[in-house]
Amino acid sequence: MLIDGAWRAARNGATFAVTNPATGELLAEVPDGGAEETQTAIDAAARALPAWAATPAPARATLLRTVAARMLECQERLATIMTLEQGKPLAEARGEIAYAASFLSWFAGEAERIYGQTVPASVAHKRILILRQPVGVAALITPWNFPTAMLTRKLGPALAAGCTVVCKPAEQTPLSALELGALLQEAGLPPGVVNIITTSDPVPFSTTIFADDRVRKISFTGSTEVGKRLIEQSAAGVKRLSLELGGNAPFIVFDDADLEAAVEGALASKFRNTGQTCVCANRIFVQRGIYARFAERFTERVRALRVGDGLQPDVQIGPLIDQQALAKVRRHVADAVEHGAQVLTGGAPYQAEGLRGAFWTPTVLAEARPDMLVAREETFGPVAPLIPFDSEDEVLRLANDTSYGLAAYFYTRDASRLFRVAEGLEYGIVGANDALPSTAQAPFGGFKQSGLGREGGPTGIDEYLEIKYVSIGL
Ligand code: SIN
Repeated sequence: MLIDGAWRAARNGATFAVTNPATGELLAEVPDGGAEETQTAIDAAARALPAWAATPAPARATLLRTVAARMLECQERLATIMTLEQGKPLAEARGEIAYAASFLSWFAGEAERIYGQTVPASVAHKRILILRQPVGVAALITPWNFPTAMLTRKLGPALAAGCTVVCKPAEQTPLSALELGALLQEAGLPPGVVNIITTSDPVPFSTTIFADDRVRKISFTGSTEVGKRLIEQSAAGVKRLSLELGGNAPFIVFDDADLEAAVEGALASKFRNTGQTCVCANRIFVQRGIYARFAERFTERVRALRVGDGLQPDVQIGPLIDQQALAKVRRHVADAVEHGAQVLTGGAPYQAEGLRGAFWTPTVLAEARPDMLVAREETFGPVAPLIPFDSEDEVLRLANDTSYGLAAYFYTRDASRLFRVAEGLEYGIVGANDALPSTAQAPFGGFKQSGLGREGGPTGIDEYLEIKYVSIGL
């Protein structure tokens, strides 16, 4: 673990295993930290805070830029580590390293633009000053599906703002976070500014950060269920929260869509990271006039996807993270079939020589319906249910009929419809003829139970800043 600028084991010597989800092979034993180590990390972050907050913004920016550049220099090694512990195909892991580095570069720029304001007062003898200052020590809790990018999407703005942090990567993928910690160290980050606690049990970590008044901010990416528990826990200390939670993304193909673009878009959105992204298309609504042609062409493309160990060249679909994830996919497919959906391709686990992970064959389900499990819950796997619809009003109603509101997509060539539908979708991120909208420059976050706050984009740094009003009497 990285605590106060030094690499540390757990005080009691405990470790836990990190394994390759494609082969089951043991990759590493990492320290199994608990409350004590978390407390030491918070102490270090609190000690480091005044000096880091006072470090001139250009110096903080330079450090972020240096680390971003080093990530790109080490892209191949970092991507290989990510594929080994997370399972995603190597090409996607390389892409994630570049995506992750872009958050550090973007927020390096933002560090230099943390402007305040002066506002005209209502009386002649007063001046009004508005300052933006770092919120303090922040705890960053990151998921296994994007082990590096979800960390830098939080770390970039936190460090740019002048906060110090205690990070907890997911227990499945701690190695990517530790590698990033090594690059931060190498770049000259002062001790205690970034601390990384690895643990197999998130509970002592979260209990400790919520109990400590010096931790003023928690940023979490993960399930809505856990997010709700964090909201409850944050009440006692009135801590600021940023939550990036689950989704149930609609992907709408109108009759007037460019068929090829819609097929390629659905493929990219649905099967990115083997369907394990919060912004993955979960329900593919296709208008009846284009339904048969879309289903045929899409199925052809899905059937051709290459499944296997992400380290093998040309593999496009890796393993699911674990057997629990596979069981959920199996349950969703079985429920759909039982209720009348038709399997156009896939529909079963994928098996091949040398693979011992939780692999599922990329699946297309025709004649799916909104009341099926596969459309009501986030599948988080390589299963594409095609749901027919008739009208724009109907599909907007169906698309919004969920407690989630993270990402939505639609394909149309009608400019008026493009505006109507983009405005009508109750989602934080809308891809209009764009299946991959995520980028460091744009706000990422959801409506409804998909979360609180936004990461990335011009407002991303606000999550790590307090606003202070200074009234000056002359
Ligand atoms: C996520 O699944 O939470 C992140 C995906 C992205 O950044 O595009």
